[in-house]
Amino acid sequence: MTPPVRLVVNEIEREVELPSNTSLLQGLRDGLGLTGTKYGCGEGVCGACTVLVEGKPMRSCVTPLGDVGGRSITTIEVLAREGHLHPVQRAFLEEGALQCGFCTPGMVLATAALLESEPDPDDGQIAVALAGNICRCGTYPRIRRAVHRAGDLVRDPDRGGPSGAFLELGQLPTPPGPRDAPWDLTEAHARGYFDLFSDGLVAILPPERGSADSSGPQWGNGGAWVHVGDTGRVTAFTGKVDCGQDNRTALTQLVAEELRVAVDQVALVMGDTDLSPFDVGTFGSR
Ligand code: FES
Ligand code: FES
Repeated sequence: MTPPVRLVVNEIEREVELPSNTSLLQGLRDGLGLTGTKYGCGEGVCGACTVLVEGKPMRSCVTPLGDVGGRSITTIEVLAREGHLHPVQRAFLEEGALQCGFCTPGMVLATAALLESEPDPDDGQIAVALAGNICRCGTYPRIRRAVHRAGDLVRDPDRGGPSGAFLELGQLPTPPGPRDAPWDLTEAHARGYFDLFSDGLVAILPPERGSADSSGPQWGNGGAWVHVGDTGRVTAFTGKVDCGQDNRTALTQLVAEELRVAVDQVALVMGDTDLSPFDVGTFGSR
């Protein structure tokens, strides 16, 4: 019978009864029931399976158990402590830096490791540190903001309010201010429309709060809006994307016709998940 592999996982000595050439990922998930570490590509490419080994990010899917015997392994399960979210988890939550969340454990651990060595990373350092972590939902702008926000909390815990940098579990995150808001987490009236545009007119069809669709954003679906600049230039926002069917042209024409302006006066912003109304997706007849 194969001798068990001894590991130190989340500061506790554990034994995994699997062959030493089994992946660390399988050892954690199947051997120890720690399923917070995710299986993505299984080939060392996506970063979903990232754990920290002696504080350094490592792909557990391509790391044999035998290579990490006796070394200190940190998984996502240990980050929240005593009923409080870790500052990086808190920042991801407050910035809405996830959609499906599958990449999030790896992103959070890679970020925690980055902030340990560089508490005030610039965008370039963040890009390098997270280059090996892929988000199939494309939430990179929010992830970048979350890393900055986490760095702020780590450097200055007073920013986190009375409980410091950590956030008590169950406590609702404070909605971010208009300037740095993910708009689906911000009520329509509080969004920073004029941070984007200076003068002009903004017309909003407010989203309904408490949408019946529980998978939708916090403030409900809808929330279409359009900006008319003081030069007559119109900017319209849509959650749709163009997948080769040229709905960019069709939607631009619709806006131009409705507002009685020339087509070349209309700019269409498509699928910017920070700014566009949530409208479920672009598929089939939608
Ligand atoms: Fe390990 Fe993708 S699952 S890198
Ligand atoms: Fe879905 Fe990143 S949030 S993969």
